[in-house]
Amino acid sequence: MNFKAELSAAIARALGDPQTDFEASIEMPPNPDLGDFAFPCFKLASKLKKAPALIARDLCEKLAPPSADSGTIDFVDQVRATGGYVNFFLDKAVYAKEILTGLLNNPETYGQSDLGRGKTIVLDYSSPNIAKLFHVGHLYTTVIGNALYNIFKYLGYNCVGINHLGDWGTQFGQLICAYKKWGSKEAVESEGISEMTRLYVKFHQEAETADSGPRADGVPSAPGLRDEARAWFVKMQEGDQEALTIWKWFCDLSLREYNLIYDRLGVRFDYFTGESFYNDKMEAIVRELKEKNLLTESGGAMIVDLEPYGMPPCLILRGDGGTLYPTRDIAAAVYRHKTFGFHKCLIVTAMDQSLHFAQWFKVVELMGYPWAKDLVHVPYGLVSLEEGKFSTRKGNAVLMEDLLNEAENKTLEIINERNPGLADKDRVARQVGIGAVVFNDLYNSRIKDVVFSWERVLNFEGETGPYVQYAHARAQSVLKKADPAEGHLDGRAIDFNCLTDAAAFEIIKLLAAFPDKIAEAASKYEPFVVTRHMVALAQAFNRFYHGNPILRSVGLTRTARLALTRAVKIALAAGLKLLGIQAPDEM
Ligand code: ARG
Repeated sequence: MNFKAELSAAIARALGDPQTDFEASIEMPPNPDLGDFAFPCFKLASKLKKAPALIARDLCEKLAPPSADSGTIDFVDQVRATGGYVNFFLDKAVYAKEILTGLLNNPETYGQSDLGRGKTIVLDYSSPNIAKLFHVGHLYTTVIGNALYNIFKYLGYNCVGINHLGDWGTQFGQLICAYKKWGSKEAVESEGISEMTRLYVKFHQEAETADSGPRADGVPSAPGLRDEARAWFVKMQEGDQEALTIWKWFCDLSLREYNLIYDRLGVRFDYFTGESFYNDKMEAIVRELKEKNLLTESGGAMIVDLEPYGMPPCLILRGDGGTLYPTRDIAAAVYRHKTFGFHKCLIVTAMDQSLHFAQWFKVVELMGYPWAKDLVHVPYGLVSLEEGKFSTRKGNAVLMEDLLNEAENKTLEIINERNPGLADKDRVARQVGIGAVVFNDLYNSRIKDVVFSWERVLNFEGETGPYVQYAHARAQSVLKKADPAEGHLDGRAIDFNCLTDAAAFEIIKLLAAFPDKIAEAASKYEPFVVTRHMVALAQAFNRFYHGNPILRSVGLTRTARLALTRAVKIALAAGLKLLGIQAPDEM
């Protein structure tokens, strides 16, 4: 049964306007005093030329049982008008039955929908720059993108996950140049990105210090060094074997390290098509921009003037003909639209790139592509580490490996304190430690700056990943102690009147709201809507658990409470999975 649809139909009948669908405006108030569902009458005021409170009162009179119409909404116990709202209080047992049977009979598809059927969402996330350390900011785009991927998929969208690696540009010329001068195959092979970073930093130091003139040790002075680096990049662009082999090697080694992180996070991509993938697609874009009279010359470079739109120009070609980050993004957008015919293309990056996206989105619009409106930049705020709490091996870029190791180690310590006899402790520590980090990243609205604090992240009692995982494990342990068939619906009569107390009913309402929360998270591109809902569900379950004996109750009460416990376990596992977090059965 779709309660909102039924209520909408009853409201429409009471208003004498049976054609109108009010479903979308029906709310689920968080405060139980305001009913289980609420209908705001404000929008009707001008149409009916009546004050919202008056409309609410009239509707209430027509809908409240035992009115003539009440038979049609027999799941409603009480209707009250509060200000401009009509508040509906459901018959709790009917509501519990409807929600729990739906969930327990179809645990695999709970909360899923086909909202997105036939529509494709392209998601561009993580996308680190090759040869550079993967830092906490990249962790953020990685987990947000992954959660959004899961959420949209759950809603029936076809999802395409793309890692748009930063694997092209002049910096690779510099890196090759530095490698040829100061590097060794062995060091790069064994140290990977750390060694590449060292070479890259060395290049810039040398270039700067050598600016003052020729040197005794034969290393060319800065202009010479920079020219050499540029020459290497030109070689790369021209398809020179040696240059490309070294470049490819840097890419492979970097990816090898990134993949270790992705594996630990359980994050997957459908494509690793980085910036270099668009090399052979850029000429056509530049030509198209020219044909559409969008290119202008400025100081030797080619730009699209965006002054009329209050933005600095979008750089397309450098003085030496090289393409730039925006050029590659435009080529990528055109390619993605042609290849996937996306409904939306989401790109998750730090907020400091907002102008870059606004600029090239505008260029795509000026090119005359109507789908420019479907390009969405999904920004997030700054991520920083609590002062002094985390040692950084490399300046201020935290090694992801260190961070994840630390999360696992600290979790293992906590497990050793709380539950030393736990089987498979290392695996659980991995699931909980990594889950804690991911959860923390998804706990707030994206735009909010995140300060990473171990104490908060790993707090089993706070609003954290471990807390939600623990509620899931608690539900599982209760079920394990019961007869495996108890709490299942098949063939068992459950008396839903046993689930009408405040604690149980709070859970029922949260379970009922879950599908709407997933849809809300998708429409706002905000996984935290799901995260917060999981915390609320875990808290409600813990209140229920402490207030109502489950295993120590008997008869129909015990069966009903076990059914509720099973439903909570299913919902928590589903929610955690959407967020990209594991749900261990024991911890
Ligand atoms: N490589 C960029 C960075 O590390 C992010 C790329 C995001 N995606 C894109 N299509 N621009 O900041």
